[in-house]
Amino acid sequence: MLSKTMEDALNRQINRELYSSYLYLGMSAWFETQNLKGFAGWMLVQSGEERNHAMKIYDYVVARQGTVRLDAIEAPKAKWSSAGKIFEEVYAHEQKVTGMIDALVELALKEKDHATFEMLQWFVKEQVEEEANAVTICEKIKTVGDVPGHLFMLDHELGKRK
Ligand code: FEO
Repeated sequence: MLSKTMEDALNRQINRELYSSYLYLGMSAWFETQNLKGFAGWMLVQSGEERNHAMKIYDYVVARQGTVRLDAIEAPKAKWSSAGKIFEEVYAHEQKVTGMIDALVELALKEKDHATFEMLQWFVKEQVEEEANAVTICEKIKTVGDVPGHLFMLDHELGKRK
């Protein structure tokens, strides 16, 4: 059984993961307007992953006989100035998410909630990967130049993500 504090915190994280999904879907839509189909596809896959993150916590709350509460999802912005700016924002966003996961881990420790602590370890590892992916793409964009005409090869590479 989850404590009320932990249940509330997990429900908030479900909302933040769904916001991440929505944010990356918005970024995908913006890349479509720039005719950067590979970037758009990469973001679409990322958006799907974020929904899976939300569902992982959702399933866990249900399994612990908790109550899932779905709040309104904040609208993301719709315009960005370049691919590089988007990936800088992705990196900053993922660092923020890492902080949220760390706070949940600390709460689980404080409450001696070992099951939630264990469930969160998947997210701790995932955040290392999420931040690394964003930084790698930021660096690649810097190397080739943050203008659509220079991003053709990278667009092709990112488009391979399934
Ligand atoms: Fe669900 Fe990108 O962290």
